[in-house]
Amino acid sequence: MHSTVKVTDKIYWLGANDRRTNLFENMWPIPQGVSYNSYLIVDEKIALVDTLEYGSSDDYLDKIEDLIDGKPIDYLIINHMEPDHSGAIKTIVEKYPDIKLVGNLKTFKIVDAYFGLKDMQYMVEDGDEISLGHHILKFIMTPWVHWPETMMTYDLTEKVLFSGDAFGSFGTLDGGIFDDEIEFEEYYEAEMRRYFSNIVGKYSNMVQKAFKKLEGIDIKYICATHGPIWRTDINKVLSLYDKWSKFEAEDGVVIIYGSMYGNTAKLADNIARKL
Ligand SMILES: [Fe+2]
Ligand SMILES: [Fe+2]
Repeated sequence: MHSTVKVTDKIYWLGANDRRTNLFENMWPIPQGVSYNSYLIVDEKIALVDTLEYGSSDDYLDKIEDLIDGKPIDYLIINHMEPDHSGAIKTIVEKYPDIKLVGNLKTFKIVDAYFGLKDMQYMVEDGDEISLGHHILKFIMTPWVHWPETMMTYDLTEKVLFSGDAFGSFGTLDGGIFDDEIEFEEYYEAEMRRYFSNIVGKYSNMVQKAFKKLEGIDIKYICATHGPIWRTDINKVLSLYDKWSKFEAEDGVVIIYGSMYGNTAKLADNIARKL
């Protein structure tokens, strides 16, 4: 029994929870873990959207096989080449040697460096589309959210935005996968803010540029590469990302200090007490 979850009729979530890693990117503490989300679209043609961190799921290929029943995967859409999403590319390519890797010019510079795979590359530009039969995928270039090659894939048919790391969150998906199945305010909002501030926040101006490109697009689902899938309250996640990337203030005070002999620490304590 493999845990795949239907997002829509033909789109499946193939995520994996990581409860073992202490430091994400060997840097950011993740006491609540993190999920890596990969998605499969099973249409006349079959497309996999991003893969997983290497070794995060020992039944990834089995899950895929259960859904496609011996058919080949036609496309692997690479929205982002960071290893937490590109880690299983080699495994996928070995299993499905006729697959086409879909990415942009900058994607393939990184693919070249990591894997080679020159003859599998299918280059797309901003606004290009691929038809899977019923589903039509459109590619939206969103560079530097948060790597140079980052792009998003929009399914025109069911209005699903595969957003890569944008709109992602730390925290494993503990049974609830969709925004209406989780306790967002009590749990994921803080994890999402931490994810944003640590991973994406430095590129906030590029997040704002991405927002401009998404203007006017009807989005029914947001499928990010970490954290919950949004299908009920899309505006909540969009408005939080908008607010954070504009550096809008929230009520509260942060006191940051360094103290060699403890005197500045005492000062900070005093300021905190006065406040
Ligand atoms: Fe990333
Ligand atoms: Fe990521």
